[in-house]
Amino acid sequence: MAKLVSNIFIPLATVFVFFFSPSLAAVEMNRFFRNLSPASLGLQEEKLSHLQFYIHDILSGPRPTAVRVAEAPVTNTSSTFFGSVVMMDDPLTLGPDPNSKPVGRAQGVYASDSQSEAVLLMAMTFVFTEGKYNGSTLSILGRNKVFDAVREMPIVGGSGAFRFARGYVQAKTYTVDRKTSNAVLEYNVYVFHY
Ligand SMILES: *[C@@H]1O[C@H](CO)[C@@H](O)[C@H](O)[C@H]1NC(C)=O
Ligand SMILES: *[C@@H]1O[C@H](CO)[C@@H](O)[C@H](O)[C@H]1NC(C)=O
Repeated sequence: MAKLVSNIFIPLATVFVFFFSPSLAAVEMNRFFRNLSPASLGLQEEKLSHLQFYIHDILSGPRPTAVRVAEAPVTNTSSTFFGSVVMMDDPLTLGPDPNSKPVGRAQGVYASDSQSEAVLLMAMTFVFTEGKYNGSTLSILGRNKVFDAVREMPIVGGSGAFRFARGYVQAKTYTVDRKTSNAVLEYNVYVFHY
């Protein structure tokens, strides 16, 4: 009798294990790639936020916040400074006055990438230091045609409160010193996030 049971049961069990238990590869694959519900990450309604602040881009003086880190042989003779690369760590403030409340930094690089127009490739991160956005970041990548009244650049992502961010920013020159190129820029940010 026992012999009969094992004769039937063992092959059946083998078939069951073979077809119904996940293989190790399948378990690993599931760790590599699986579907999640947005709720499992605590995501609720997507919302649209508007932020407004000012960036202080200081190229000269005792404490510059933006420094040229690279240039091409043609940069200084180019009408557009083609090839210059500037590293920035600019303060963000609530108002245009540099002494108004600081709310974060704009960190990244901008580079002159047109031979015929004053255009900058901007690759920067806003890191916020105030309120519910403290520690959260937004990443901007776009084309900044600096003498246009309004320059629009895409938001390519974010972190913290800005996970899954998408949207755009609009930059306006508030003041610029023609001699030093020190500038105050007004930024309006329109961002979808959770
Ligand atoms: C180009 O101009 C910059 C800024 O004035 C200066 O720092 C740099 O030395 C110049 N480069 C050359 C190759 O002359
Ligand atoms: C922002 O977060 C940092 C790090 O957690 C903390 O030290 C700082 O006090 C916070 N600032 C504000 C204004 O909440």
